[in-house]
Amino acid sequence: MIQKSRPRRLRHSASIRSMVEETQLSVSDIIAPIFIVEGENIEKHIDAIPGYYKRSLDLTIKEVKEIFDLGIKSVLLFAQCEEDLKDNVGTEALNADGLMQRSIRAIKEAVPEICVMTDVALDPYSSMGHDGIVENEQIVNDPSVEVLAKMALSHAEAGADFVAPSDMMDGRILAMRNMLEENDFHHVGILSYSAKYASCFYGPFRFALDSAPAFGDKKTYQMNPANRIEAQKEINLDIEEGADIIMVKPALSYLDIIREAKNSIKVPICAYHVSGEYAMIMAAAEKGWLDEEEAMLETTLSIKRAGADLIVTYFCKKIAAYLNQ
Ligand code: PBG
Repeated sequence: MIQKSRPRRLRHSASIRSMVEETQLSVSDIIAPIFIVEGENIEKHIDAIPGYYKRSLDLTIKEVKEIFDLGIKSVLLFAQCEEDLKDNVGTEALNADGLMQRSIRAIKEAVPEICVMTDVALDPYSSMGHDGIVENEQIVNDPSVEVLAKMALSHAEAGADFVAPSDMMDGRILAMRNMLEENDFHHVGILSYSAKYASCFYGPFRFALDSAPAFGDKKTYQMNPANRIEAQKEINLDIEEGADIIMVKPALSYLDIIREAKNSIKVPICAYHVSGEYAMIMAAAEKGWLDEEEAMLETTLSIKRAGADLIVTYFCKKIAAYLNQ
């Protein structure tokens, strides 16, 4: 037989390679996580998320402007609650003048076009460090959902474009959608952390927000990393309940889950390249064992190729700067 098929022809030059390239990253796919703390003129490096900072609101606004100028369309806000404001039922999470609500208002005023998304879960506000209310060492579902729906409403009232429930309670998407509809927030979207696994890779984030569970772990609400079919169930339920975008989290160890969702559902898929996944690359790069930029691009591209339309990543600004070159 005469040789006909030579796949290497399509790799022969940079021009040909880029012509047949199947996946491209784009700045508008990127969502930037933002950590906000009380105070003024504060910019604190998060050692476990190297190159990433928590900032007071004044400096956060400068940062968000910079992020928007780079072409990034969305920020995902996390507010660190002061220790003495924490309780078991997340009272501070509903404070219309709380740090989160003030931040939403100030960011929307400073950069009205940016899409502001907000984390909805009780853990930063909980003296127990859990995403829901604790009774007898159990995370009770329905009372937690009630508070979470009010929290979503409070973020919508402050001007959030999307609420992003990361708590994994049952039925929370329906409760939030109803709450938003009943209060005429028809335009406010829900980005649901649908398939959120009980992962060790959230470690640096919990360190950053001081939100580690006071007892036990999160395995009664976050998913078992061994499960794939269960992710389909969670994702389908959330779409039925009214989620506009669904999320798989973490990203890298769950690329199969992302792909499976992409093949079967009709809503945009977001993946969260989480703090621990980022920290691994940064630590290896610091040792000189990996090239940071190459590892960043290959990793992020793999998440997109797997099927993520949107990617939350701590590399946000570096990727945007690279793509804008
Ligand atoms: C809180 C929340 C967590 C993350 C996002 N929202 C931590 C957790 O569930 O314990 C993790 C993000 C990251 O690791 O980058 N509900």
